[in-house]
Amino acid sequence: MYNSKIIGLGHYVPENVVTNDDLSKVMDTNDAWIQERTGIKERRHVVKGDGDTTTTMGVKAAKVAIERAGIDKDDIDFIVFATLSPDYYFPGPGVLVQRDLGIKTVGALDVRNQCSGFVYAVSIADQYIKTGMYKNVLVIGSELHSHGLDMTTRGRSVSVIFGDGAGAAVLTREEDTTKGILSTHLHSEGQHAEELSLIAPGMGNRWVTDIMEDNDPNDESYFPYMNGQFVFKNAVVRFSEVIVEGLEKNKLNATDIDLLVPHQANLRISQFIQKKFQLNDDQVFNNIMKYGNTTAASIPIALTEAWEAGKVKSGDLVVLAAFGSGFTWGSVIIRW
Ligand code: UT7
Repeated sequence: MYNSKIIGLGHYVPENVVTNDDLSKVMDTNDAWIQERTGIKERRHVVKGDGDTTTTMGVKAAKVAIERAGIDKDDIDFIVFATLSPDYYFPGPGVLVQRDLGIKTVGALDVRNQCSGFVYAVSIADQYIKTGMYKNVLVIGSELHSHGLDMTTRGRSVSVIFGDGAGAAVLTREEDTTKGILSTHLHSEGQHAEELSLIAPGMGNRWVTDIMEDNDPNDESYFPYMNGQFVFKNAVVRFSEVIVEGLEKNKLNATDIDLLVPHQANLRISQFIQKKFQLNDDQVFNNIMKYGNTTAASIPIALTEAWEAGKVKSGDLVVLAAFGSGFTWGSVIIRW
């Protein structure tokens, strides 16, 4: 058995900055409410017609990660792509990355675990590397939310939170099993599936011909729905649980954490976790202020920025943790 380790990180966000004041021009919201409840100051939105998609952003992030990994794209043995906003209903973006990067015909897998998508994707990559099946796995988390948000007052409690962007990591084999990814921990609780969901264009028990015939501009099932307070309450509990689970599995304590990179759901959630584990500001990395919640992209974007800022050093204990729609949640414990 081997371990896996992250050897390259990259991210890409669209240039277009959308501030809270910009949003207050199109819906009844304001900078004070958004900052107070979420910590978000601005986010990035793709500009209509400029060609950026979930896949193209993922490819841009992947190119940086591959270059930093110091490997050739043809050394990649497998692709895992996490998103809730795929370019097409099918096929998923994994194969589009294989095509657009011009990688040989390696396997490409799509992960549908929303805010926990990157944690799930890393766990999958880790298992393949551990068993020796693959040596280098490209993991991408990318989201294009802005095209699908209800940018009116009706959708304000959701649409002010989400932003566009992508992050990527290259994982490779580590022979020393005391280093790299020590363990991953995944969970789900489908009884709360609809509490944070986007029902359309899922078929469910609907016929697509009926949907097209109805062509109802007021069909809210095409916009994401979130029971905010319920999700918040579950998030703080599950984040804590899954971090403890990961630490205990490795006989570690919260005091051993050098850097916690939580999914950027809400700055208040990160602050709650920081307080609970008595971590100082240097031990928790947040960038939701700049990008909002980018779902599957949020951890790889944050991890990339933390690494670029020199906050991730060899030997550090780095913890990734996520919670989101499904509900799904998980953690990754890394000895960097
Ligand atoms: O990434 C996946 C996991 N996601 C999360 O963990 C997110 C968890 N939830 C949250 O972060 C918070 O619940 C939100 C930030 C989404 C909402 O904050 P809240 O404190 O739970 O607010 P609320 O939904 O209870 O709304 C409070 C008030 C309402 O007005 P009334 O009924 O008190 O008059 C809303 O209509 O704030 C109003 N409101 C807004 N006002 C200004 C809701 N959205 C907005 C807005 N601007 N954008």
